[in-house]
Amino acid sequence: MERTLILVKPDAMQRGLAFEVLRRLEARGLKPVAVRMLQADEAISSKHYAEHVGKPFYAGLIEYITSAPIIAAVFEGTDAVAAARQTLGATRPTEAAPGTIRHDFGLEIGRNLVHGSANLDDAAREIGIWFEGQAPIDWKRATDAWVFEG
Ligand code: RTP
Ligand code: MG
Repeated sequence: MERTLILVKPDAMQRGLAFEVLRRLEARGLKPVAVRMLQADEAISSKHYAEHVGKPFYAGLIEYITSAPIIAAVFEGTDAVAAARQTLGATRPTEAAPGTIRHDFGLEIGRNLVHGSANLDDAAREIGIWFEGQAPIDWKRATDAWVFEG
């Protein structure tokens, strides 16, 4: 089963939406297997956003992600990477579908509340960054049989 890395970004934290973001992913059926609240610094943020170094929005992105505590979480489930991105919605909130987190709570691309890994390789890399030394927990959830078939 796939695992994906979610970050509840500083705007969601500041606006009191952190657990709404996590609740929506959990309610979808995705299973939390690791959670951590931390204040990101420049070192960890630049590792996470390495693909964006040199882009015009990079400095603002690092300033944003380090501006308040965040919550890092790992969710597990069927097609977890794509399913989570679908629940997050398009990167630009005004292009995100109604019912997605970014549509329902956001307006601007630089304040889009939440991060989700883009693919399986990124998920593994990002879980390694944010959960270094903290292994996700393998657990059987009582409702698993009602969410995951077979
Ligand atoms: P994320 O990584 O946060 O899940 O979002 P994503 O894959 O949909 O978007 P990505 O291209 O990886 O961009 C990472 C984050 O950088 C900010 N961004 N700002 N001003 C801009 O043009 C711009 N482009 C991207 C967004 O916060 C985006 O989520
Ligand atoms: Mg991305």
